Amino acid sequence: MAEYPTNVQLPDGSAVELRRMSTDDRDSILDFARSLPQEDLLFLRVDLTESAVVDDWVNNAVNGNSVALVAYDSDGLIGYAAIHRNPTSWTRHLGEVRVNVNPEYRSRGLGRALTSHVFDLAGELGLQKLTAHMTSDQRGAQAAFRRLGFVPEALLADYVQDRNGTTHDMVIMSFDIAGHTDQALGTVRI
Ligand SMILES: CC(C)(COP(=O)(O)OP(=O)(O)OC[C@H]1O[C@@H](n2cnc3c(N)ncnc32)[C@H](O)[C@@H]1OP(=O)(O)O)[C@@H](O)C(=O)NCCC(=O)NCCS
Repeated sequence: MAEYPTNVQLPDGSAVELRRMSTDDRDSILDFARSLPQEDLLFLRVDLTESAVVDDWVNNAVNGNSVALVAYDSDGLIGYAAIHRNPTSWTRHLGEVRVNVNPEYRSRGLGRALTSHVFDLAGELGLQKLTAHMTSDQRGAQAAFRRLGFVPEALLADYVQDRNGTTHDMVIMSFDIAGHTDQALGTVRI
C-alpha cells in the first residue's frame, strides 16, 4: 500500500500529489466545492459548500469512519475520493465511494488515480463491496464508473432531490471488492 503523501503522474505528464484527507484540507475543500460549476453543485451528495458539512466530512476521515484522499497540484486542491462506511449494522460491509475532480482535470486520468488509491485504503475499513450513487442524468459519471469496473445495480425512481427541488432517478453502481479485487485493481493503476 502506498505511503502518503505520494506523487503520481497523469498520462498527460501532469504531476499531482495525493494526500490522506486531514483537518488541514478543510479550507481547500470548501474552496474546491464553492468553485464547482452549477451543474455539479446541483448534484453534490452532501453540500460541501457549507463549512459545517465539510467539518463533519473531514472528521469522519480523521476518526476512521471513512477513508479519503485529496489531490493537489501546485495551485491547490483539484479533487478528492472518499469511501464512507455504511453506518447501519446489516450493511456495514458496504462502502460508498464519492469522487470529484476539478472540471479542468476531468478525462485526464485523475479520477482513475484517486479511485485506485482509495480502493486500496478500503481494506482498512474491512469493506467487501463498494457502491457509487449518481443520478440517471449523470451519463459521463456513469460511463467513467463503468470504466473503473463498476456495474449498474439499481435504479430508484425520484430518489434524488437537487438543490432546486427537482427530483431525479438515482443510479446505484457497485464494485465487488471481495470477488474482483485482483482483476479490477490491476487495471485501475496508472
Ligand atoms: C466521474 C469523475 C470523478 C471521473 O473522473 P475523471 O478524472 O474524469 O476520470 P478519468 O479521466 O480517470 O477516467 C476514468 C475512466 O472513465 C472514462 N471516462 C471519464 N469521463 C468519461 C465520460 N464523460 N464519458 C465516458 N467515459 C469517461 C475514461 O476514459 C477512463 O477510462 P479509461 O482509462 O479506461 O479510458 C469526474 O467526471 C467527476 O468529478 N464528475 C463529477 C462528480 C461525479 O459525478 N462523481 C460521481 C459520483 S460519486
